[in-house]
Amino acid sequence: MRYAVLGTGQAGRTLGGKLVALGHEVTLGSRTKDNPVALEWAADSGGGAGTFAEAASFGEVVVNAVAGRVALTALEAAGAANLAGKVLVDVSNPLAFEDGEARLSPVESDSVGEQIQRAFPDARVVKSLNTVNCAVMVDPARVPGGHQLFVCGEDADAKARVTAMLGEFGWPADRVLDLGGIRAARSVEMWLPLWLDLMRHFGHADFNLELRTSR
Ligand SMILES: NC(=O)c1ccc[n+]([C@@H]2O[C@H](COP(=O)([O-])OP(=O)(O)OC[C@H]3O[C@@H](n4cnc5c(N)ncnc54)[C@H](OP(=O)(O)O)[C@@H]3O)[C@@H](O)[C@H]2O)c1
Repeated sequence: MRYAVLGTGQAGRTLGGKLVALGHEVTLGSRTKDNPVALEWAADSGGGAGTFAEAASFGEVVVNAVAGRVALTALEAAGAANLAGKVLVDVSNPLAFEDGEARLSPVESDSVGEQIQRAFPDARVVKSLNTVNCAVMVDPARVPGGHQLFVCGEDADAKARVTAMLGEFGWPADRVLDLGGIRAARSVEMWLPLWLDLMRHFGHADFNLELRTSR
């Protein structure tokens, strides 16, 4: 499978590296063609690097791994035509630190996942993976137990494809909880303030939710 991973930060490089290791073709997307971090990643991993548009044009599946607050800007640069009809996995969080405090925007009545689906109605947006650290995304065994991930989005087939990708990462399908439509991106994005407090509490990022129900 050909993947575009938009974002040269830790999340993008980790996801891209795992996909290459799994035998997929990956182009890491950046604002600029000559981003040194992307070029170094490509040289080390065997993947490719390019602009957001070049990556999105290349990928059969597109992963959005840029900061949530600039996701629309990055995806506009990627180009609506390069996203149309494709599964678009949104792993972003709309987090920014203001006056030393972590703040979400949008929050409660909207989400980045919904913003992306509205702005790119022909893309098949699936929100997932944003609730765990990127090392855990691609190696769930870092955390013991039957901990879980979420998917949400409007397209059932797209969610099934993302669940299959998560399976390649090591997440059994029964640990991927389908929260329904893209509206649920609000709640998984709002998990982030608690995730940050938990990281401060534990002193590391190797943790995740394990939900148990009575039936
Ligand atoms: N890191 C994790 O473990 C983790 C876990 C869960 C979710 N996430 C989410 O994954 C996303 C990426 O996080 P990250 O820490 O890897 O990287 P990041 O620093 O949040 O994002 C880096 C990317 O954002 C792009 N970017 C920055 N400003 C931009 C702008 N004004 N317009 C367009 N693009 C811009 C950069 O482009 P250039 O390449 O051109 O510099 C770069 O590709 C975030 O939304 C984060 O919440 C991360």
